[in-house]
Amino acid sequence: METEKRTQISAEQIDNRDLSEQIKEVTKDSHVRAENTELMLGFQRGQVTLPQYKLLLCSLYEIYQALEEELDRNSSHPAVAPIYFPAELARLKSIENDLEYFYGPDWREKIVVPAATLRYCHRLRQIGKENPEFLVAHAYTRYLGDLSGGQVLGRIAQKSMGLKSSEGLSFFAFPGVSSPNLFKQLYRSRMNSVELTAEERNSVLEEAVRAFEFNIQVFDGLQKMLSVTGNEHQESWTNSEAVHSKTLP
Ligand code: HEM
Repeated sequence: METEKRTQISAEQIDNRDLSEQIKEVTKDSHVRAENTELMLGFQRGQVTLPQYKLLLCSLYEIYQALEEELDRNSSHPAVAPIYFPAELARLKSIENDLEYFYGPDWREKIVVPAATLRYCHRLRQIGKENPEFLVAHAYTRYLGDLSGGQVLGRIAQKSMGLKSSEGLSFFAFPGVSSPNLFKQLYRSRMNSVELTAEERNSVLEEAVRAFEFNIQVFDGLQKMLSVTGNEHQESWTNSEAVHSKTLP
């Protein structure tokens, strides 16, 4: 009886906790797994190569295009409006600049992504249409990640590839955010202001775990593509899981 009571209390406490705390907790293990993917380990060891980074940018382009289109389209949805910060967070233009820097003016013709990236984008577009309240889970996973570990990774990438200043690295720069830590605090408080039923909240938490899983699959897919050739010859990737995103519906 006593144990039962205690269990109930703790379940209640969990339910009463802020979304920002819960989401961090439920994705903790996934974060460790994401950090330990071969691609991310390479980043942390300062072993980022140009082909790796260029290929990552291609996938980030597709992902942010889907994410930001869905956020824009749902910007007045009550679960999206509080966490909608395009001026501070939008990444698409920066990624386009980086792609142009590395691939030249016809970069759009050169975008190649693993199938996992398309699955991730498909999910983003699906929830944008069917469950816009889940977008908070995806926006959290990408943007708060970019404002956290991403900041360190940017500096490492610059060093490893011997790039001058921020050339080709605008993805990592947030000129509209003067203090990433303060901004993250604001973002968390906005997340906490989103009104969700208990059922919706659980689904958002599940979606956050799924969002991390999509990212892990993308990193693994990219690593596989790179291991096919180990160089920049994208033509060889046609035999792997790689897809020219333009050829897809
Ligand atoms: C937060 C490191 C990869 C998503 C953080 C923090 C660090 C970090 C130091 C701050 C923790 C805190 O403030 O308590 C790294 C490193 C990575 C990596 C070194 C890989 C080399 C990723 C990836 C994702 C991600 C791949 C998702 C796609 C997040 C999120 C947060 C975060 C959402 C915010 C957690 C919160 O405050 O709720 N990361 N990270 N990280 N990271 Fe990562």
